Amino acid sequence: MRIRLAQVADLEGIAHLIHRNWDEVLAEVHSAAVVSRFRSEMSIAALREQLCSKTILVADDAGTVVATGALADFPSEGRAKPCISNLFVAPDRQREGLGALLMQHLLALARQRSITVLHVPSSRVAVAFYTRLGFTVDTEQPDAASEMTWMRKRLSDGKA
Ligand SMILES: CC(C)(COP(=O)(O)OP(=O)(O)OC[C@H]1O[C@@H](n2cnc3c(N)ncnc32)[C@H](O)[C@@H]1OP(=O)(O)O)[C@@H](O)C(=O)NCCC(=O)NCCS
Repeated sequence: MRIRLAQVADLEGIAHLIHRNWDEVLAEVHSAAVVSRFRSEMSIAALREQLCSKTILVADDAGTVVATGALADFPSEGRAKPCISNLFVAPDRQREGLGALLMQHLLALARQRSITVLHVPSSRVAVAFYTRLGFTVDTEQPDAASEMTWMRKRLSDGKA
């Protein structure tokens, strides 16, 4: 298993992985409207643009992309808001530690960039996963209508 930066050649595999998750995993716990909206935002063209604006990593298993996750900035009220974005593991490879492995790399990257608080808009299924990794649920939830739960983790304590 190799964790590396995503390239243009990976975009089809990444889009497929994300679409499979919306269809097979997230459709079980999110409304049809939310699934349809977020799914349609994940076109290859949109992902190609994100290659410039985010740091996208993939887990490459012998040439197949089996997981992806990104470090992004979603500024809020004029201030930077460093975030985990688009963390997805292939449905048939979930609960094998791949999500945690990708997060280790993303957290290391965030620390290299001197990020002290990392945010994530979590799907309904991922709240328990992020909690396991030390994230806590924010008191304010501006995207509740989108069925996303904002969570955060302080990185300045030196813990993994
Ligand atoms: C959420 C997701 C990224 C987690 O990745 P994963 O590879 O399945 O998780 P891991 O195997 O690395 O699990 C790491 C830890 O979290 C726990 N965990 C993972 N998913 C969990 C869940 N749904 N409920 C409870 N605990 C969970 C694991 O048990 C493990 O705990 P341990 O260290 O005590 O053994 C993955 O399941 C996924 O892609 N889900 C669907 C898409 C999604 O919701 N992505 C997040 C978008 S914000």
